[in-house]
Amino acid sequence: MVVLISGNGSNLQALIDDIAEHKIAAEIVAVISNKKDVYGLERAAQADIASHVVSHKDYATREDYDTQLNSVIASYSPDLVVLAGFMRILTPWFVEQFTGKMLNIHPSLLPKYKGLDTHQRAIDAKDEVHGASVHFVTPELDGGPVVLQSKVPVYSDETASQLASRVQEQERQMYPLVVRWFCQKRLLMLNNKAYLDGNEIPSTGYAPD
Ligand code: GAR
Repeated sequence: MVVLISGNGSNLQALIDDIAEHKIAAEIVAVISNKKDVYGLERAAQADIASHVVSHKDYATREDYDTQLNSVIASYSPDLVVLAGFMRILTPWFVEQFTGKMLNIHPSLLPKYKGLDTHQRAIDAKDEVHGASVHFVTPELDGGPVVLQSKVPVYSDETASQLASRVQEQERQMYPLVVRWFCQKRLLMLNNKAYLDGNEIPSTGYAPD
């Protein structure tokens, strides 16, 4: 698999750790970041994984950027592309290069709070429950079929960063599990729907509780 990051890389680390512990039968062949000097690149180096910085600042248009990103990824011929905190909107053309082979983790209970500032938005809306979703990537931003969601309670007087860190704790459990299902060939996307062991996954994800 190729893992795309933009920052800290805690989800990347969770994958590195589960692969090292043989919980996931796969290899991360490359890590790509759109930002230099992020800690996720350091994590890749520590795990002896090849890494690339493909900076969006070097490309005039989104299409040019995605063309270059695609060619770096394609040079590894990965079976799976994992978006792990990759903070870029992707062109439909790029997404279609990896239909059924690209997963994303998003810090909300989709379809709620697509886009940015999800934790603050959940607090502002006085939601009692918040969480994260892993989904297949389709051209619709944060709109592909959900595979798994994880919920956390929202406490009163909690800050967005406190809430984020509890959500991220859940993310580090759930993303490796979904990647393991994919690598075991138990998980697939067909006609914009996600299936686990041949059963269609409901829109709230597998195991909503
Ligand atoms: C994670 O919370 C992930 O859900 C979020 O970025 C964080 C990355 O953390 N992703 C998005 O907001 C995507 N729209 P990490 O770099 O420590 O894995």
